[in-house]
Amino acid sequence: MKSLANKNILLGVTGGIAAYKSAEIVRHLKKSGASVRVVMTKSAEEFITPLTLQALSGNRVSTELLDTESEAAMGHIELAKWADGILIAPATANTIARLSSGRGDDLLSTVTLAFDGPISLAPAMNQAMWRDNRTQDNLNKLLTQDFGICGPGSGEQACGDTGLGRMLEPLEILEIFSSSFDKGVLSGKNVLITAGPTQEPIDPVRFITNRSSGKMGYSLAHAAIEQGAQVTLISGPVNIEPPSNCNVIAINTAKEMSDAVKHHIKEMDVYIGTAAVSDYSPAEVKDSKIKKAGDNSSMILELKENEDILKFVSELEDRPYVVGFAAETDKLIENAENKLKHKKLDLIVANDVSDKSIGFDSEENEVTLITKEEKQLLKKQNKKKISKKIIEFISGRINEQNN
Ligand SMILES: Cc1cc2nc3c(=O)[nH]c(=O)nc-3n(C[C@H](O)[C@H](O)[C@H](O)COP(=O)(O)O)c2cc1C
Repeated sequence: MKSLANKNILLGVTGGIAAYKSAEIVRHLKKSGASVRVVMTKSAEEFITPLTLQALSGNRVSTELLDTESEAAMGHIELAKWADGILIAPATANTIARLSSGRGDDLLSTVTLAFDGPISLAPAMNQAMWRDNRTQDNLNKLLTQDFGICGPGSGEQACGDTGLGRMLEPLEILEIFSSSFDKGVLSGKNVLITAGPTQEPIDPVRFITNRSSGKMGYSLAHAAIEQGAQVTLISGPVNIEPPSNCNVIAINTAKEMSDAVKHHIKEMDVYIGTAAVSDYSPAEVKDSKIKKAGDNSSMILELKENEDILKFVSELEDRPYVVGFAAETDKLIENAENKLKHKKLDLIVANDVSDKSIGFDSEENEVTLITKEEKQLLKKQNKKKISKKIIEFISGRINEQNN
């Protein structure tokens, strides 16, 4: 974690089970040299006492907005002026909803309205609450307004469920939060990345899929985050841990991916489509498992074409900078140039998937970046380095566009 020496950090604590971890966050913040003040919501006091946080922070904990005593000392405007950064951990679904609608009906929400610096949220809630469209919409709105996000993580939850929604561990949160004070080349930009394969069900036990591992998309997500972007990652089923400081939306089918893209595309500055979206899906999904006829006869599976997500995005009136990937087995550059033109992309990243040492499941890649004006070969190297260069290329082009 980066040093927070001489930084004034306001820690917001809201009413979730994970509030007991806020005590440890205060301890680590103090250890890294920060001055800490804590603001708690009413509900948070049911989970951890102000006395604990006061003893650890060495400062009076604020809980009331309409409190004559605290308004005379460290009132909401004073707290907003004092803070260099605000971290809300845990951030409940309720607080996320209230912040997203600009409410100022308690001390914490009012301070965030009056504050002009970096605000990060460490969401913590049940997995179904996290997946709920209203929570996702609220969060998305905050992300597009430059709020930072630390997590959530996935795993077993206090309620017994398993999935995304657990608050990250204090040190993981602070690792992300401390880097929010750095400004990268994509600082303030919203980036939507799709990654991985899709699965198109045939019957309850079978599906059509492809060999995409998701490595390239996830690696690009890391690189964009490192450069200060707010990243939303819409991912098919893969075996990779997502970056903890981006909004991850898990999908299975091409239709779900398309719906998720449509839901999140507004306000995006960059769209990077690395997902290997199935071109076709079964015309009919059987309710029960298809049985073998047992008479050596052949079986015909009727497929219907899926929507072209990349094309949809590039045809939007108010479109972001659109990046596509061309995974080709032959005529790499020619096919990629055709795709760039037909799908009206700003940039296409072409890679030769017939070469087993690069592409789909490998650690390395060699790609050619193609735009209307130029071609740039990025020689074979690990996907992390390739991603960094792709992100630098994109940021260079969007910054040119804005100048
Ligand atoms: C035992 C218990 C645990 C809860 N845990 C969470 C949680 O982890 N995340 C969450 O979003 N809400 C949780 N809630 C619901 C919040 O406490 C409730 O929405 C409250 O209004 C949040 O208020 P606040 O956001 O102002 O702190 C929990 C409620 C109870 C009773």
